[in-house]
Amino acid sequence: MAISRDTLGGGRKDEHVRLAEELRELRDAGVVRGVSPHGVWDDVRFMHHSFPGGSFDGVSLKTSVCGRDWAVPFYINAMTGGSEKTALINADLARAAAATGVAMATGSASPALKDPSLAHSFAVVRENAPDAFLFANVSPEMTVDQARDAVGFLDADALQVHANPAQELVMPEGDRDFSGWLDRLSDIVAGVDVPVVVKEVGFGLSARSVAEVVARGVRTIDVSGRGGTNFIDIENRRREKQEYAYLSGWGQTAAECLLDLQGSPVMLPRDVSEEEPVQVIASGGVSTPLDVVRALSLGASAVGVSGHFLHVLMTDGLDTLIDEITEWISQVRTLMTLLGAASVAELRQVDVLVTGTTAEFARLRGVDLAALAQRH
Ligand SMILES: Cc1cc2nc3c(=O)[nH]c(=O)nc-3n(C[C@H](O)[C@H](O)[C@H](O)COP(=O)(O)O)c2cc1C
Repeated sequence: MAISRDTLGGGRKDEHVRLAEELRELRDAGVVRGVSPHGVWDDVRFMHHSFPGGSFDGVSLKTSVCGRDWAVPFYINAMTGGSEKTALINADLARAAAATGVAMATGSASPALKDPSLAHSFAVVRENAPDAFLFANVSPEMTVDQARDAVGFLDADALQVHANPAQELVMPEGDRDFSGWLDRLSDIVAGVDVPVVVKEVGFGLSARSVAEVVARGVRTIDVSGRGGTNFIDIENRRREKQEYAYLSGWGQTAAECLLDLQGSPVMLPRDVSEEEPVQVIASGGVSTPLDVVRALSLGASAVGVSGHFLHVLMTDGLDTLIDEITEWISQVRTLMTLLGAASVAELRQVDVLVTGTTAEFARLRGVDLAALAQRH
């Protein structure tokens, strides 16, 4: 059955998909304030060199996430599940992941943890992508048992725990008390038998937040920054008076977060051993293969894409999404060839020019941008 925005229902999960799509179109048309999803990474530029050496066939896209090898350094990030309509979306996203070899995350398992009859809307992901690397997703409000159940729904390889205080506070029915989150996180890390990733939902994890979760035993984080899907705007649309429109620009972009981490190694606790380094994933506003390469060059081990892939699926269907992901894989390789980087590790050595408001942010946070611009 084809899925379209018009067939979505009125529950929260369906509303999130519908509003994410509506706001994307309004933002593209310049109607809604905020950062264009196509422009948020534009402050990150590369120094072009005319003798890159190497070849397209010599480029390896391999990366490693949560101790496992991935063939492709970008993936379909957390979005949905928890209703009949979003089960269809999850099934299609999983088919796209299986067809292209990328990893995938589901949205928060909360609906199915409250109503087990909805578990199939997550299980459908494993059914359609039996060999894919899959992340389950929970809120830091969940107990260890609930986190284990969420992993079990889709036999997940890792578990994302989302930190979304800005979304909760603007959400009419959202949480208002975050005092237990870090302790819950410690329990989840100790109690589940898969790696735990802490992620934001589009407002950016600061170096301080990263240090806090690393101290709780987390070794992989997804900074998930501002500039793509905006959950302040989405939740504000669900409010009767829509009184939080002014808060649209809240948070850090993913590029700012990656720079913040480069500038603040001292913020990581001393007990992080060399054998278990902290690994950073980037997401938020990624809408081109160039954005993927930009994030990798700033230290990300992998790059998550949500809103853009959802938009392709909802507007043009599964076959076009598979074509799009396949094309991105080829184009990431093309861009790495242009930059003379034969691997993700070599991409971290290319010269990156950080400009505009991102440079202003970096200067305030003490990042040495001249060194970044002359890495080789
Ligand atoms: C429709 C939709 C639903 C989402 N639901 C979740 C969720 O349940 N859990 C979560 O961690 N992130 C969720 N996200 C956030 C994404 O994982 C990602 O962090 C954010 O959208 C920024 O990436 P983007 O700009 O590529 O969309 C959702 C995103 C979208 C578009």
